[in-house]
This record gives sequence, C-alpha cells and structure tokens, in this order.
Amino acid sequence: MPSKYPLASGTWDEKELNAIQRVIDSDMYTMGKYVAEYEERFADFFGSKHAVMVSSGSTANLLMIAALFYTENEDHRLQPGDEVIVPAVSWSTTYFPLQQYGLKVRFVDIDRDTLNISLDQLEQAITDKTRAILAVNLLGNPNDFDRLNDIIAGRNILLLEDNCESMGAVYEGRQAGTFGLMGTFSSFFSHHIATMEGGCIVTDDEELHHILLCLRAHGWTRNLPKHNRVTGAKSDDPFEESFKFVLPGYNVRPLEMSGAIGIEQLKKLPGFLHNRRENAAYFQELFSNHPYLDIQREVGASSWFGFSLVIREGSDVIRKEIVNKLSASNIECRPIVSGNFAKNEVMRYFDYDIPKELYNAEHVDENGIFVGNGHHMLREELKYLAKVMS
Ligand SMILES: Cc1ncc(COP(=O)(O)O)c(C=O)c1O
Repeated sequence: MPSKYPLASGTWDEKELNAIQRVIDSDMYTMGKYVAEYEERFADFFGSKHAVMVSSGSTANLLMIAALFYTENEDHRLQPGDEVIVPAVSWSTTYFPLQQYGLKVRFVDIDRDTLNISLDQLEQAITDKTRAILAVNLLGNPNDFDRLNDIIAGRNILLLEDNCESMGAVYEGRQAGTFGLMGTFSSFFSHHIATMEGGCIVTDDEELHHILLCLRAHGWTRNLPKHNRVTGAKSDDPFEESFKFVLPGYNVRPLEMSGAIGIEQLKKLPGFLHNRRENAAYFQELFSNHPYLDIQREVGASSWFGFSLVIREGSDVIRKEIVNKLSASNIECRPIVSGNFAKNEVMRYFDYDIPKELYNAEHVDENGIFVGNGHHMLREELKYLAKVMS
C-alpha cells in the first residue's frame, strides 16, 4: 500500500531532466563546466568565498578533515592524537573521518530540546588538548553560534561544521555551514536539494580551498589554479602538469550531471525552504502542547530537515507501540539520526572518550521518532499524523 506520509519525495521536474539531457548531449560526463557553475552559485547563495562540490556529504566531511592535515597554517593544522569534540547524536560519517585520521574523539551529550550539542557540557568538556569542535546542525536546526564562539574565544580551537542536514538554516542572518572554518553540505535524496548523490564544502580560506581541490581529484595539480597555495606557481607545460601528484588525495569528484541538476535545484531552494518552514509552523501548532511528546526547539531559523518526536520522560508510552501504530497507519518513520552513536559496535576502532554520561542522547536513542518533511505542503499528512498520535 502506498505510504500516506512518506519520509521524502522527489523534487525534480523537467528542469532537472533537461539538465541531465544537456550533459548527455555534450557527451562529457565527468566533472566539468556545470560542476564549476554550481560551485559558483553555491558559494554565492550561502555567502561563502569558495565551494567545492564532491560525491557526497560523507566525502565532504572526509575532505574537510583531511585538508587540515596538509595546511601550512599552524593555526589550522591538525595532527594525529588531537582531540576533537563532537555531539553524541549525528550521522556515522560525521565521525568516521576523525577515526580515519587518528584523531581522538570526545563525545558530548546533546541538549534535550534543541537536539544539538549541549553547550554547557561542551564548555566543561574542553581540555588543553582540544583542537577542534565539529558542530553538527541537527535536522535543520542551527547551533547557537554566538555562544559557541564565546566558548572558544581566545583558545586555539577550530570550529568546523557538519551542515549536511541543515542546508538553508540561518542563525542571526547568516547561513549555517559558514560559521566554521569549513562547513559541509549533502544533496542526497531526501535532503533540501537532491543531485542524485552529492556534497559540498564551503570555506573562506584560500589555502584550504586549494587543498580541497587537490585532495578531491587524485591529489594531483591539474585542478589547481596557476598560482595556488599548494604548489606555488604551476608550470605552463600541460604535459608535465597532467600527472603530477602532490598530496595523498582521493577521487571523490561529483559527476557532471550532479552539477547540472544542482544548478536547477539551487534555483528552487528558496521555494523549498519556504514550504518546509510552513510545514514546520503547522507541525509546531499541532504538537507544541502534546500530552506525551516533545518536539525540537528551534534555534535561529531552522530549515526543518524533518520532525522529531521524543516521548517525554516519565510518560508510560512505549516507543515500539508508537512505531507499530505509525506503520499500521502507513506513516513512515525512523529513529532520530543515529541515536546515541557512541553505542555502536564500530566504536571499538575509535580512540575516544566520554567525559560525562550521555543522558539525553540515550533518552533520544530509546524514545525518539523521526518523520519526514518535504518541499511541498504537508498539511493533510501532518493532520493525519496528529490524529494517529492523539
Ligand atoms: C549529519 C550528517 N552528516 C553527513 C551525512 C552524509 O551525507 P551523504 O548521505 O550525502 O553522504 C549525513 C547524511 O544524511 C548526515 O545526516
């Protein structure tokens, strides 16, 4: 039976299909002019100096961390063993690059209401070894960046952002993803825009931008500008520069079709965001005073990736029963992101610590439910959800 309230739905029409056709007609499928145009528009839209498109949000996170190992700027450089503070609730590939680069991961509890990192606990978790905070804007909700910046002011601590769930979120008039030294985005299906697979890294730092360009494609010099911060000046000999490898990079380039689709999706993004926020206003109206469920408290202007419902502490409602009820009513639901990530078996490969009990992450892990939001109006779906959950 078709879902009465799906987690996500497609956002494409003939604009995206024509964009794909243009790439097919050009017979040039590998990263080229459409990806370059997308990057320019992306940087412009979010108010960043540079944007680098990659194959996914996960590889955006990978390059963001990798780049910090190759910078000449000592204020930015990370080394194995450096401590990075993260919230205990996020997606797996927020954390994996930290493990892969030998960093020590320090898990901090989330705030029960915003579902972002608890800023009180973050403040207490900082040590002399803390070199970075990887802030995650969860489910569309930006962090309180004023407070975050106050906490790290005067300390040698980098702020990085995983904004893969929160494209278009705004805090104090500024786009989430642009508060950190670098910020990452995802354009996977079900996210705010969809480019098949896709991700992006934004930064205002020129050197990091050049490092990202190099790491994205084989660690070679080919995609670097003639005068660049990785090699200085490139030679004018294209033969010599064609296979010259200067950093231990990857191949995480996006397909040209993703760039072409992305250009069309970015044009639609303001409309998508408007509708997501209208849906959220109705969701808040329906669920703000719910007898046994709590909803996410917005910080700044959320871009509302989806809607969280957390069973209130002390209530005798059991999640399994709610999930069964939703499923019997044809409403799709999921846990809230990873729940308490530090519980996963994969942690045996990590160098990590948990300075204080992850009480809220655990509560959300056991009592949280996620339902989708989308780019079109979901009034009937939300009304139906409220009726099922009454
Ligand atoms: C917080 C967060 N970071 C990273 C990612 C990875 O993005 P992708 O699916 O494009 O690899 C996701 C995926 O949804 C995410 O939620």
